[in-house]
Order: sequence, then C-alpha cells, then structure tokens
Amino acid sequence: MKPKAILPILFLALSTLLAFVADPNEMSFVKQHFSASEKQLGKLLDTANRVDTLYPRTIDQCGKVIFTNMYEWTSGFFAGSLWYGYEGTGNPQLKAQAIKWTEKLEPLKSFTEHHDLGFMVYCSYGNAYRMTKNEKYKDILVQAAQSLSTRFSEKTGVIKSWDKFGSWDGKGRYDFPVIIDNMMNLELLFFASKVTGNQSYREIALSHAEKTMQNQIRDDYSSYHVVCYDPQNGKVLSRETAQGYANNSTWARGQSWGIYGFTMTYRETQDPRYLKVASKMADYYIDHSDLPSDFVAYWDFNANQNGYTPSIRSKAKDTPTNYRDASAAAVTASALLELSTFSGINAKKYRDAGVKILKSLSGSAYFAKYGTNGGFLLRHSVGSIAHGVEIDVPLVYADYYYLEALNRYRKILSAA
Ligand code: GLY
Repeated sequence: MKPKAILPILFLALSTLLAFVADPNEMSFVKQHFSASEKQLGKLLDTANRVDTLYPRTIDQCGKVIFTNMYEWTSGFFAGSLWYGYEGTGNPQLKAQAIKWTEKLEPLKSFTEHHDLGFMVYCSYGNAYRMTKNEKYKDILVQAAQSLSTRFSEKTGVIKSWDKFGSWDGKGRYDFPVIIDNMMNLELLFFASKVTGNQSYREIALSHAEKTMQNQIRDDYSSYHVVCYDPQNGKVLSRETAQGYANNSTWARGQSWGIYGFTMTYRETQDPRYLKVASKMADYYIDHSDLPSDFVAYWDFNANQNGYTPSIRSKAKDTPTNYRDASAAAVTASALLELSTFSGINAKKYRDAGVKILKSLSGSAYFAKYGTNGGFLLRHSVGSIAHGVEIDVPLVYADYYYLEALNRYRKILSAA
C-alpha cells in the first residue's frame, strides 16, 4: 500500500480513538450533574420522609408532591433513583435512604395484578441487589419473577399487561392486552433465570420478546402501543393506543420502551435479530423529521398531523400543543448509551445521540433549579395526554432513567 493511501485510515483510527478516550470535561459534566441531582434528591427525600408510607410520582398545579401507593407502576423508581444517586456520588446517606425506600416494597413480591412488577421491583430491588449483593434482595426478586410469570399464557405466548382494555372509540373490549412497555419487565425474568438456573423465566421472556417483535413493531420500526390478543388462540385481534395520539401513531415513550427493551433483550440473548430491532427503532427516533434539535421528542411522533385522528373519547384531540416528553427522552438516552456499547451497529451514532439527549436534559430548559419542581430533577414530561393527566410535569421515572443514563455515561467514559 502506498504511504498516501494509509493516511485516511490512520486519520479515521485516530479520530475514533480520540472520540472514545476519557475526556476530563465530560467527566466533570457527569460529576457536576450527580452533585446537582444529589442536592435536589435531598429535597424530595425531605418531603417523602414526612409522608413515609406513599411513593412520590409528580406534582400538582400548586407544586405539591403527589404520591401513590406501592401498587402503582411507578412505586419503585424513587428507591431506584436513590440507588443511582448513591452510585454516582458515594454518599452513604443516599445509600441508607435507598435501602429504606426499597425495603418498604417487599409486599410487592407476591403482587400479580398487572405486568408492571418488573418496573416496581427491578428498579428498586434489582439495583439494591446489584449494589449490595444482599441475598434477601435476590430472594425477593426471584419471588417477584414468579409472580410476574403467572400473567404469561402458553396460548398467546405473551405476558398479559392489563386484565382488560377498552378501545377509545368505546367499541372494543379485550381480555388480553399487551403494551410495548411490557418489554421492560423482561429484565426481571432474565435475572431470575441467571440466579436460580431455572430456565422457565427466561423462556417466558424470550417468547414475549419474539411475539412483540412480530406483532407490535411496524415495517418502519415504529411501534403500536397496545396489541390485543385472543386469549383462546393467540390471534391478534386489534392494534390500538391507550396513551398515544391515535391508533396508528407512534407514542414517544412507547417507542422509547421498545428501544430500551430490545437493547436489553439483545444484551441477555446475543440474538442479532434483537440488535437489529433495537437499532432500527433507535433510528426511527433519532432520524425522525419532527425530532426537535435538542433530541427531546414531542410526546407523540404524529400528534396533530394529517392522517392521524384521535378517537372521539380520547382527550388527545383537546390538546393542540405539541408538548415535549422528557421522560421518553431520558429512557431513550439510557437505552442509546447501552446500545452504543455493542458492536455490529453504528455505535458512534447512538453514543452521540444518547449524550446529546443527556446534555439537553441537563440544561436549564429541563433540569430544575435547586428547590423548585417539588424536588424532582427534570421538568417537562407527559404522563398521558389521552387521559388528560400529568401534562408538562416532572415524573419520577424521568428522573430515574436520567440518573441511569448519567451512570451509563460515567461508565463508558471510565472504560475509555
Ligand atoms: N408504563 C406506563 C407509561 O409509560 O406511562
């Protein structure tokens, strides 16, 4: 090879290397935001510890913290945020509080009423076990995986998300709805098989992921929010939305759950089909013509567009503002940072996009000033515009995935 021909190769190799070498400025960005998060978490802790028996979720119009009981899908995120806060800062007080807020959730180990047990238990006890190796936490996680498994049906090959689903048009009533969010709960099942050697949890997760890949993802790798199955024979009866703009639209957080869920499923299986779905779903988000320049998506990729019509009973039609959803962005940032660690895909694209979202969320447009926002970290998330609730507010899960993304970025920088 002529020396001249080597130059571009050398240049490419050097620039790739430089891009991945730990950058002190980047590490100081991470440290600075862990420190701001630690202070703000202290504010929410003050309020939460006064209430003690309930779990913080968002704020009301006066800025007062709204709490839920432990059986709501969001109950484990506060404990999880405390674990990530502890991991990022080493503050032993955060660890003590993380233990306290995790251990209160023990009754969830036998909960079977909806699929969200994975969120509730894995974000709390999963992080607790990862960071302490306390065997008691492992046992609780395995019991929870057993409880979640009771919602799996051999006939449909999937885990039932909710017991019932009614279409927004009032016409359809279904007994076996599965939502894209359910991909997130598979991580608990993969964990349980790894620590027990009992493959049945993993088999359920694999079956669910396979069916979701077949039935819930469109040809352009956007996603349906809800797929309703016939419980007798597993046939797909309908594809609709619960929290998105319209049945044929792409609800931003649903897309984020899919990117995250299939990325995690690839990590657990090394099956390249899941890597392909994860990266194509990520491309849908990153390359979308309506993605704002800060990469924090509007709450639905098709809201208020021609060709997409909310059902008459959905409140989506009453909301002409295209609100951003910082929670969808936080989930996506965390997923993209993990996706960027795998080979065989455009890792740099996913890392750059993940970091870009993380930086946007860390800026003053989203990251709350100390003492404001009820003590939550991020502003401008959306719970469900279709139901007319939690619009442009902080949400505890946005904070959880933001802190997870910050931790993932710290680890990527440290490994460089
Ligand atoms: N898993 C419910 C939601 O994303 O709102």
